[in-house]
Amino acid sequence: MRIAVYPGSFDPITYGHLDIIERAADLFDKVIVAVSVNSGKKPLFTIEERVEMITAECHHLKNVEVRHFRGLLVDFAVQNNARSIVRGLRAVSDFEYEFQMALTNRKLNAQLETIFLVSQPNYSFLSSSIVKEIASLGGDVSGFVSQNVANRLHNKYHR
Ligand code: COA
Repeated sequence: MRIAVYPGSFDPITYGHLDIIERAADLFDKVIVAVSVNSGKKPLFTIEERVEMITAECHHLKNVEVRHFRGLLVDFAVQNNARSIVRGLRAVSDFEYEFQMALTNRKLNAQLETIFLVSQPNYSFLSSSIVKEIASLGGDVSGFVSQNVANRLHNKYHR
Protein backbone atom coordinates (compact mmCIF):
# COMPACT_ATOMS: atom_id res chain seq x y z
CA MET A 1 0.00 0.00 0.00
CA ARG A 2 1.42 3.38 -1.01
CA ILE A 3 0.87 5.77 1.87
CA ALA A 4 1.71 9.47 1.76
CA VAL A 5 1.69 12.13 4.43
CA TYR A 6 0.67 15.68 3.54
CA PRO A 7 1.85 17.83 6.46
CA GLY A 8 1.13 21.45 7.22
CA SER A 9 -0.33 23.85 9.68
CA PHE A 10 -3.60 24.35 7.72
CA ASP A 11 -4.63 27.43 9.72
CA PRO A 12 -7.13 27.21 8.06
CA ILE A 13 -7.41 24.82 5.10
CA THR A 14 -7.89 26.65 1.78
CA TYR A 15 -8.91 25.55 -1.71
CA GLY A 16 -5.17 25.50 -2.51
CA HIS A 17 -4.58 22.80 0.10
CA LEU A 18 -7.66 20.90 -1.04
CA ASP A 19 -6.37 20.87 -4.61
CA ILE A 20 -3.13 19.22 -3.43
CA ILE A 21 -5.03 16.71 -1.22
CA GLU A 22 -7.35 15.66 -4.06
CA ARG A 23 -4.47 15.20 -6.49
CA ALA A 24 -2.41 13.26 -3.93
CA ALA A 25 -5.43 11.04 -3.20
CA ASP A 26 -5.41 10.13 -6.89
CA LEU A 27 -1.73 9.17 -6.80
CA PHE A 28 -1.56 7.21 -3.53
CA ASP A 29 -3.57 4.40 -1.94
CA LYS A 30 -3.86 6.42 1.23
CA VAL A 31 -3.11 10.04 2.11
CA ILE A 32 -2.77 11.16 5.70
CA VAL A 33 -3.25 14.90 6.12
CA ALA A 34 -1.04 15.62 9.10
CA VAL A 35 -1.79 18.79 11.02
CA SER A 36 1.21 20.01 12.92
CA VAL A 37 2.37 22.75 15.17
CA ASN A 38 4.74 25.09 13.39
CA SER A 39 6.80 26.53 16.24
CA GLY A 40 7.31 29.76 14.29
CA LYS A 41 3.60 30.49 13.93
CA LYS A 42 0.87 31.61 16.30
CA PRO A 43 -2.26 29.82 15.06
CA LEU A 44 -5.77 31.27 14.97
CA PHE A 45 -7.48 27.86 15.17
CA THR A 46 -6.72 25.09 17.66
CA ILE A 47 -5.33 21.85 16.28
CA GLU A 48 -8.70 20.18 16.97
CA GLU A 49 -10.56 22.88 15.01
CA ARG A 50 -8.16 22.52 12.11
CA VAL A 51 -8.58 18.73 12.05
CA GLU A 52 -12.38 19.15 12.13
CA MET A 53 -12.35 21.60 9.22
CA ILE A 54 -10.07 19.43 7.06
CA THR A 55 -12.13 16.31 7.85
CA ALA A 56 -15.28 18.10 6.67
CA GLU A 57 -13.56 19.24 3.44
CA CYS A 58 -12.28 15.74 2.69
CA HIS A 59 -15.39 13.68 3.43
CA HIS A 60 -15.74 12.82 -0.30
CA LEU A 61 -12.21 11.38 -0.42
CA LYS A 62 -12.42 7.85 0.94
CA ASN A 63 -8.64 7.25 1.05
CA VAL A 64 -7.83 10.41 3.01
CA GLU A 65 -7.37 10.45 6.79
CA VAL A 66 -6.80 13.53 8.92
CA ARG A 67 -4.62 13.39 12.03
CA HIS A 68 -2.53 15.73 14.09
CA PHE A 69 0.94 15.17 15.37
CA ARG A 70 3.58 16.67 17.59
CA GLY A 71 7.25 16.00 17.19
CA LEU A 72 9.16 15.21 14.05
CA LEU A 73 7.39 14.69 10.75
CA VAL A 74 9.72 11.82 9.83
CA ASP A 75 8.74 9.94 13.01
CA PHE A 76 5.05 10.46 12.31
CA ALA A 77 5.54 9.18 8.74
CA VAL A 78 7.34 6.04 9.93
CA GLN A 79 4.72 5.34 12.62
CA ASN A 80 2.08 5.46 9.89
CA ASN A 81 4.00 3.34 7.37
CA ALA A 82 4.26 6.22 4.92
CA ARG A 83 7.14 6.35 2.44
CA SER A 84 6.28 9.70 0.87
CA ILE A 85 5.82 13.25 2.06
CA VAL A 86 3.68 15.40 -0.24
CA ARG A 87 4.18 19.16 -0.40
CA GLY A 88 2.62 21.77 -2.66
CA LEU A 89 4.84 24.22 -4.53
CA ARG A 90 3.06 27.49 -5.21
CA ALA A 91 5.84 29.66 -6.60
CA VAL A 92 9.60 29.84 -6.97
CA SER A 93 9.67 31.63 -3.61
CA ASP A 94 8.49 28.42 -1.91
CA PHE A 95 11.38 26.48 -3.33
CA GLU A 96 14.20 27.41 -0.98
CA TYR A 97 12.22 26.60 2.17
CA GLU A 98 10.80 23.40 0.68
CA PHE A 99 14.22 22.34 -0.58
CA GLN A 100 15.68 22.81 2.91
CA MET A 101 12.84 20.83 4.52
CA ALA A 102 13.03 18.01 1.99
CA LEU A 103 16.80 17.65 2.41
CA THR A 104 16.55 17.81 6.20
CA ASN A 105 13.84 15.17 6.27
CA ARG A 106 15.87 12.98 3.95
CA LYS A 107 18.91 13.36 6.18
CA LEU A 108 16.77 12.36 9.18
CA ASN A 109 15.34 9.37 7.33
CA ALA A 110 16.71 8.35 3.94
CA GLN A 111 13.74 6.01 3.32
CA LEU A 112 11.35 8.94 2.99
CA GLU A 113 10.83 10.65 -0.35
CA THR A 114 9.38 14.16 -0.67
CA ILE A 115 7.06 14.57 -3.65
CA PHE A 116 6.20 18.08 -4.83
CA LEU A 117 2.93 18.85 -6.56
CA VAL A 118 2.82 22.17 -8.39
CA SER A 119 -0.17 24.25 -7.33
CA GLN A 120 -2.78 25.19 -9.88
CA PRO A 121 -2.08 28.75 -11.09
CA ASN A 122 -5.38 30.04 -9.69
CA TYR A 123 -4.27 29.03 -6.18
CA SER A 124 -0.58 29.81 -6.45
CA PHE A 125 -0.96 33.19 -4.71
CA LEU A 126 -3.03 31.80 -1.82
CA SER A 127 -1.91 31.39 1.75
CA SER A 128 -3.73 30.89 5.03
CA SER A 129 -2.37 34.23 6.29
CA ILE A 130 -3.79 36.13 3.32
CA VAL A 131 -7.18 34.50 3.87
CA LYS A 132 -7.07 35.38 7.59
CA GLU A 133 -6.16 38.98 6.83
CA ILE A 134 -9.05 39.38 4.37
CA ALA A 135 -11.48 37.74 6.80
CA SER A 136 -10.31 39.86 9.72
CA LEU A 137 -10.96 43.00 7.66
CA GLY A 138 -14.46 41.86 6.73
CA GLY A 139 -13.62 40.90 3.12
CA ASP A 140 -15.15 38.12 1.02
CA VAL A 141 -13.12 34.89 1.28
CA SER A 142 -15.62 32.69 -0.57
CA GLY A 143 -13.24 32.25 -3.54
CA PHE A 144 -10.50 30.89 -1.28
CA VAL A 145 -12.15 28.69 1.34
CA SER A 146 -15.37 26.70 1.78
CA GLN A 147 -18.49 28.19 3.36
CA ASN A 148 -17.82 26.20 6.53
CA VAL A 149 -14.31 27.64 6.89
CA ALA A 150 -15.54 31.14 5.98
CA ASN A 151 -18.16 30.89 8.74
CA ARG A 152 -15.57 29.79 11.29
CA LEU A 153 -13.30 32.68 10.29
CA HIS A 154 -16.22 35.06 10.67
CA ASN A 155 -16.96 33.67 14.14
CA LYS A 156 -13.33 34.11 15.22
CA TYR A 157 -13.05 37.70 14.08
CA HIS A 158 -16.49 39.23 14.25
CA ARG A 159 -18.46 37.63 17.10
N1 COA B 1 -2.29 26.28 -1.37
C1 COA B 1 -2.46 27.35 -0.59
N2 COA B 1 -1.63 27.68 0.41
C2 COA B 1 -0.62 26.85 0.64
C3 COA B 1 -0.38 25.72 -0.13
C4 COA B 1 -1.27 25.45 -1.17
N3 COA B 1 -1.11 24.40 -1.96
N4 COA B 1 0.73 25.11 0.32
C5 COA B 1 1.16 25.84 1.35
N5 COA B 1 0.35 26.89 1.54
C6 COA B 1 0.51 27.97 2.51
C7 COA B 1 -0.04 27.65 3.84
O1 COA B 1 -1.37 28.07 3.97
C8 COA B 1 0.88 28.43 4.74
O2 COA B 1 0.45 29.76 4.78
P1 COA B 1 0.79 30.69 6.04
O3 COA B 1 2.28 30.77 6.13
O4 COA B 1 0.15 31.95 5.68
O5 COA B 1 0.19 30.00 7.24
C9 COA B 1 2.23 28.39 4.00
O6 COA B 1 1.89 28.12 2.69
C10 COA B 1 3.14 27.29 4.42
O7 COA B 1 2.49 26.48 5.31
P2 COA B 1 2.43 24.92 5.40
O8 COA B 1 2.43 24.24 4.10
O9 COA B 1 1.30 24.60 6.30
O10 COA B 1 3.77 24.66 6.04
P3 COA B 1 4.23 25.11 7.42
O11 COA B 1 5.50 25.80 7.13
O12 COA B 1 3.25 25.84 8.23
O13 COA B 1 4.37 23.71 8.10
C11 COA B 1 5.46 21.67 8.61
C12 COA B 1 5.50 23.02 7.92
C13 COA B 1 4.35 21.55 9.64
C14 COA B 1 5.26 20.64 7.55
C15 COA B 1 6.83 21.57 9.27
O14 COA B 1 6.99 22.66 10.16
C16 COA B 1 7.02 20.27 10.00
O15 COA B 1 7.24 19.25 9.37
N6 COA B 1 6.94 20.30 11.33
C17 COA B 1 7.13 19.13 12.17
C18 COA B 1 8.47 19.21 12.90
C19 COA B 1 9.58 18.74 12.01
O16 COA B 1 9.65 17.60 11.60
N7 COA B 1 10.49 19.68 11.73
C20 COA B 1 11.57 19.44 10.81
C21 COA B 1 11.10 19.71 9.40
S1 COA B 1 12.45 19.86 8.31
